[in-house]
Amino acid sequence: MPQTMDWRKVALFVCVLSILPLVCFCATSFIPVDNYLIDCGSNATTLVGNRNFTADNLSKNFLSTPQDVLASTSLKSTSSSGDDSPLYQTARVFTRSSKYTFPINHQGRHWIRLYFFPFTYQQYNLSSASFSVTTQNNVLISNNNFSVQKIPVMKEYSLSVTSNTLVITFTPFNNSIAFVNAIEVVSMPDDLISDDAVSLDPSAQFSGLVVQALETVFRVNMGGPTVSSRNDTLQRTWVPDQSFLVQSNFASSFSNIGAVQYVDGGPTVNSAPPSVYGTLNEMNSSSDPRSIFNVTWQFDVEPGFQYLVRLHFCDIVSKGLNELYFDVYVDSFLAAKDLDLSILGNNVLGAPYYKDLVTPSTANNKLRVSIGPSGLNSNYNNAILNGLEIMKMNNSMGSLSAGTAAAANNSGSSSKNVGMIVGVVLGALGAVVLAGVLFVICRKRRRLSQEQSKTWIPLSINDGITSHTMGSKYSNGTTISATSNYEYRVPFLAVQEATNNFDESWVIGVGGFGKVYKGELSDGTKVAVKRGNPRSQQGLAEFRTEIEMLSQFRHRHLVSLIGYCDEKNEMILIYEYMEKGTLKGHLYGLGFPSLSWKERLEICIGSARGLHYLHTGYAKAVIHRDVKSANILLDENLMAKVADFGLSKTGPEIDQTHVSTAVKGSFGYLDPEYFRRQQLTEKSDVYSFGVVLFEVLCARPVIDPSLPREMVNLAEWAMKWHKKGQLEQIIDPTLAGKIRPDSLRKFEETAEKCLADYGVDRPSMGDVLWNLEYALQLQEAVVQGDPEENSTNMIGELSPQVNNFNNHDPSASGVVQLDVPSTVDDLSGVSMSRVFSQLVKSEGR
Ligand SMILES: *[C@@H]1O[C@H](CO)[C@@H](O)[C@H](O)[C@H]1NC(C)=O
Ligand SMILES: *[C@@H]1O[C@H](CO)[C@@H](O)[C@H](O)[C@H]1NC(C)=O
Ligand SMILES: *[C@@H]1O[C@H](CO)[C@@H](O)[C@H](O)[C@H]1NC(C)=O
Ligand SMILES: *[C@@H]1O[C@H](CO)[C@@H](O)[C@H](O)[C@H]1NC(C)=O
Ligand SMILES: *[C@@H]1O[C@H](CO)[C@@H](O)[C@H](O)[C@H]1NC(C)=O
Ligand SMILES: *[C@@H]1O[C@H](CO)[C@@H](O)[C@H](O)[C@H]1NC(C)=O
Ligand SMILES: *[C@@H]1O[C@H](CO)[C@@H](O)[C@H](O)[C@H]1NC(C)=O
Ligand SMILES: *[C@@H]1O[C@H](CO)[C@@H](O)[C@H](O)[C@H]1NC(C)=O
Ligand SMILES: *[C@@H]1O[C@H](CO)[C@@H](O)[C@H](O)[C@H]1NC(C)=O
Ligand SMILES: *[C@@H]1O[C@H](CO)[C@@H](O)[C@H](O)[C@H]1NC(C)=O
Ligand SMILES: *[C@@H]1O[C@H](CO)[C@@H](O)[C@H](O)[C@H]1NC(C)=O
Repeated sequence: MPQTMDWRKVALFVCVLSILPLVCFCATSFIPVDNYLIDCGSNATTLVGNRNFTADNLSKNFLSTPQDVLASTSLKSTSSSGDDSPLYQTARVFTRSSKYTFPINHQGRHWIRLYFFPFTYQQYNLSSASFSVTTQNNVLISNNNFSVQKIPVMKEYSLSVTSNTLVITFTPFNNSIAFVNAIEVVSMPDDLISDDAVSLDPSAQFSGLVVQALETVFRVNMGGPTVSSRNDTLQRTWVPDQSFLVQSNFASSFSNIGAVQYVDGGPTVNSAPPSVYGTLNEMNSSSDPRSIFNVTWQFDVEPGFQYLVRLHFCDIVSKGLNELYFDVYVDSFLAAKDLDLSILGNNVLGAPYYKDLVTPSTANNKLRVSIGPSGLNSNYNNAILNGLEIMKMNNSMGSLSAGTAAAANNSGSSSKNVGMIVGVVLGALGAVVLAGVLFVICRKRRRLSQEQSKTWIPLSINDGITSHTMGSKYSNGTTISATSNYEYRVPFLAVQEATNNFDESWVIGVGGFGKVYKGELSDGTKVAVKRGNPRSQQGLAEFRTEIEMLSQFRHRHLVSLIGYCDEKNEMILIYEYMEKGTLKGHLYGLGFPSLSWKERLEICIGSARGLHYLHTGYAKAVIHRDVKSANILLDENLMAKVADFGLSKTGPEIDQTHVSTAVKGSFGYLDPEYFRRQQLTEKSDVYSFGVVLFEVLCARPVIDPSLPREMVNLAEWAMKWHKKGQLEQIIDPTLAGKIRPDSLRKFEETAEKCLADYGVDRPSMGDVLWNLEYALQLQEAVVQGDPEENSTNMIGELSPQVNNFNNHDPSASGVVQLDVPSTVDDLSGVSMSRVFSQLVKSEGR
């Protein structure tokens, strides 16, 4: 095979750019605007870690109390975090309601940390203290029972302060007393708790985190030691997870703090420090890497409250990207399916990620968090968890305590709430804009740094993920010869056998390249066999491209190459068989049952993942160049895979214009900028994908010459209605009333951005993916019990005259087609099982 040597070498030396992410230097350590640290009952400043807690002097401080009792003890307190023990040696005692009033210079979320250690001082037995602690809007503690508590405890709250002062009131019950050992009121970074979180139970009402008062009940560092407040930029304490593991031998810990790479736009050290992201517990698969089980942690919680669960992840265990997928459960809810940290970390291995979830209020006093392998793993199973925070949310009374509040004084809170919401929303908007600008700047910097730091690593195909030998699949002595070092190569005899000697009745598709047969290997694997027409010169180039591309790129959202055959001048490609055919076939023309909106979104998300991987998975972006619904295939579970890489090209270097020789692609999907300027970038795929999105939404061909002129081109037609803000008028009638308006809006917006005239204005595939996932979340967040959402807000019935485009006079059409080659398959009704679309000839364009 001398003639094929050159391109095989190319295929064998696929080069991987080691991605050296730009560590985010933008985030300097956080300096709180409001920073009140008071060592109550102390007459001198106390140094804790590197912070001074000031003495609690009535004349200088913020306290108003009817009496001045400074209590102290010589009893040594040993708190779990160690550092803060001096704070517990003194306390303030209150026999009547008393309050601390703190001026607030920066409104927004603040930590409130209260330190308690019940000792006995003179006549005051703090163990029998019974009191409530309230702020203007919230009850933090009511009737705390310290009689069972012998050790020091720090209670941490976080709440949005919306007035110029924060008043913390201690009110003893009946004839009892109240006390406190130390108080912190400290500004938090505004973005630490965002307004969004996913509600685990879509039928349980949940509206925004901004107004929630939160109490930290657990903050856990998986697989690592205690991280003390001194080692956390926000003075949080993280405790080890061993005692929470239900079956500790199911988990094994791992640590590699150096592997943590904070990236721009992702979590920062303020989200959690490297000592948290750099350690984890994973599945203990030491006995069998294929075994399937969950690792579960269990926490005591108070029934009747909702909890905000923040799960911290950072893939420090994988050797490469796209190796680890796993599922996460909170109680019986599937909190994350097939979690893909490579995508979520913007293709940086070791990039931290966290996910916020809100539980429904439970009757149970245990909360369980489990991780387990995703069904998508083929080679080995794993699942990880790096850190976990569980925060109790206030109940409908604004209280964090089930007991009755002694003196929650809510006077004047309602008008302030409005101001608070407006303020926070405006603040959040500003933050979003700023974050966006920073993100863009940092992305640019990262790209530059990537370019400057190319490290080329030869990747042998034999080392790839498909290390199982294909030989075993061909019986009857037709195994691959020992001299073949190219595992994908399949003997012609085996192909003949698999296709019943190219039985014409097994043909499932015909394209410019040749015929596609359904086949079955001797081990029963169903395959699709594409047999090239030997006389086609163009076919040879595409044959090579396709093998190169598919042997490099293994991804569950790219159709897999099983093998190829080049014996006897044959050009045969063997792929995994995609049971359900093309996305296009499911949208229109073939009479399949209509896909639901969720199914469509999931298909779009899957194919966006595949394309995103093509664009970013390797050193150079690979541009598919023929993105269309006919090239998105569906397996038996409707999982989408992108197919047909015959036209793919390695993308241009950054800042280097790439002038391609011939514009290729499919009409109706073709990027107008690429068409005009012959300049090929990933953004051409983004454009085509935008057209696919509209196709999915409207379920009609992208070019339909039988329609009136202005309707022929779907992209133009859809944009026209989008601009009018009435896209819902032309969506697939079977979706009417079934799409949540905000999901539709997000989807529409995403598609519109993809169709921007200039590539630079289009989002990246990663952004598209993110937005589609968001659209799916919005769809799933539908509130069952809310009549408003279910009826009036849904897209109503469609006006028949706009939708019924098939009734129009076909003679009115005929624009656009000037130079459309007759081979464009989008014009014709496509037969089912046309698994592999026709390759469009480039001649004449
Ligand atoms: C509180 O401060 C005032 C004024 O600085 C001082 O006179 C007083 O002695 C201090 N009280 C205590 C208990 O330290
Ligand atoms: C501070 O309090 C300690 C005991 O709590 C006492 O011995 C000491 O004299 C006090 N110092 C001042 C300046 O009041
Ligand atoms: C704490 O206060 C002492 C004096 O009371 C001062 O010398 C020291 O520098 C302060 N430390 C910090 C970290 O502010
Ligand atoms: C303080 O009160 C607790 C419970 O109310 C009791 O168990 C303890 O003996 C008391 N301690 C003293 C020194 O009276
Ligand atoms: C506090 O808890 C103890 C033990 O559970 C109980 O005996 C006592 O009655 C409780 N006190 C109050 C005020 O709830
Ligand atoms: C405190 O007073 C309330 C009524 O005001 C009563 O229900 C409660 O039992 C009393 N608690 C104690 C510990 O005396
Ligand atoms: C803080 O982290 C450093 C390493 O980063 C470690 O050496 C030190 O012991 C830690 N200190 C505490 C108090 O955890
Ligand atoms: C992992 O599992 C093996 C076999 O079940 C057991 O021997 C080992 O102790 C476990 N490792 C940990 C860290 O628990
Ligand atoms: C893992 O836990 C979830 C939720 O409890 C459960 O549905 C699933 O079946 C468990 N998986 C395994 C392998 O035990
Ligand atoms: C918490 O309190 C706020 C008002 O302060 C309220 O809007 C919100 O619904 C409460 N949270 C829950 C879960 O009830
Ligand atoms: C609430 O505050 C008002 C004035 O601000 C006061 O008159 C009232 O007594 C307070 N109620 C309670 C229960 O403290």
